[in-house]
Amino acid sequence: MDLGLKNANVLVSGGTGGMGRAAADCFAADGARVAVMARSRAELDSTVAALKKLGAPDAVGLQADLFDGASVDAALAELGRRWGHLNAVVNAAGPLSGGLKTFETYTDEEWQNVYSGLLMGAVRTIRAALPLLRKAPWARIVNVSAMSTKRQSPPLVAYTSAKAALTSVSKNLSQSLAPEGILVNTVSPGTFVSESFKASMAPIPDLDENDLYAVMGYINKNFGHHVFLNRAAEPAEIGPVIAFAASARNTYMTGANINVDGGSDFT
Ligand SMILES: NC(=O)c1ccc[n+]([C@@H]2O[C@H](COP(=O)([O-])OP(=O)(O)OC[C@H]3O[C@@H](n4cnc5c(N)ncnc54)[C@H](OP(=O)(O)O)[C@@H]3O)[C@@H](O)[C@H]2O)c1
Repeated sequence: MDLGLKNANVLVSGGTGGMGRAAADCFAADGARVAVMARSRAELDSTVAALKKLGAPDAVGLQADLFDGASVDAALAELGRRWGHLNAVVNAAGPLSGGLKTFETYTDEEWQNVYSGLLMGAVRTIRAALPLLRKAPWARIVNVSAMSTKRQSPPLVAYTSAKAALTSVSKNLSQSLAPEGILVNTVSPGTFVSESFKASMAPIPDLDENDLYAVMGYINKNFGHHVFLNRAAEPAEIGPVIAFAASARNTYMTGANINVDGGSDFT
């Protein structure tokens, strides 16, 4: 399907790793210009080279730290000078999770840190991108939340509440930006095995972090996350859903929270 992304200008925050990279690959293969935003210069450079090879007519690596609003503003200003407008922004950076702790052991500072990364990182990015989105003939925003906001799991309390707040911001923006034709959606993935996720699993004894069924079994046992397909996902299974939501082909979906979770009882 032609997603209408040829020569579109797209920014993927977190586009150098995992699911953000999978989405960036989809945009590039569909002929979009792709900017990726992250901290590591080396990862930005190698991603830009790969995106150009995949077909992006232009690719840009923007170095910014989502905890630092000034660096995000500077990155978007650079993009504005280069492209003039933006058609789509995807907030896929993470995990920025703040670790696994119980409710009572999180300090105020740790709560604020989780919210500064997961929620405010996306807020800062959208705020800086809006003037560029408003200059485009069509514009979309996609925020990556998490299926775990619906299931709950005690050690994920800070992470899931920040992601739930991001989902709420998405819904709110879908209403306020609808009159301007800017469509805003959330994608909520279940467990998927990005390199960083695999690295976090690697120390677990007797678990093959490359075995999607074994990983899901572990997550189900320890976090109570059962899925109908009984396996975790590859990032490449989620990237195309993001690409569609962020594309010109999506003309009537806004305010949606799309589960890409292998099947669950939750709506
Ligand atoms: N993995 C899962 O099972 C799962 C499930 C549900 C939802 N999610 C969500 O999906 C998203 C992507 O997860 P992932 O596993 O694909 O992540 P990942 O592979 O670890 O990639 C993270 C990306 O975000 C960037 N990033 C991290 N911290 C940043 C910061 N402070 N400022 C700017 N960029 C930053 C990284 O680049 P640098 O490190 O160079 O900055 C990288 O590009 C996250 O929002 C995560 O919470 C993941």
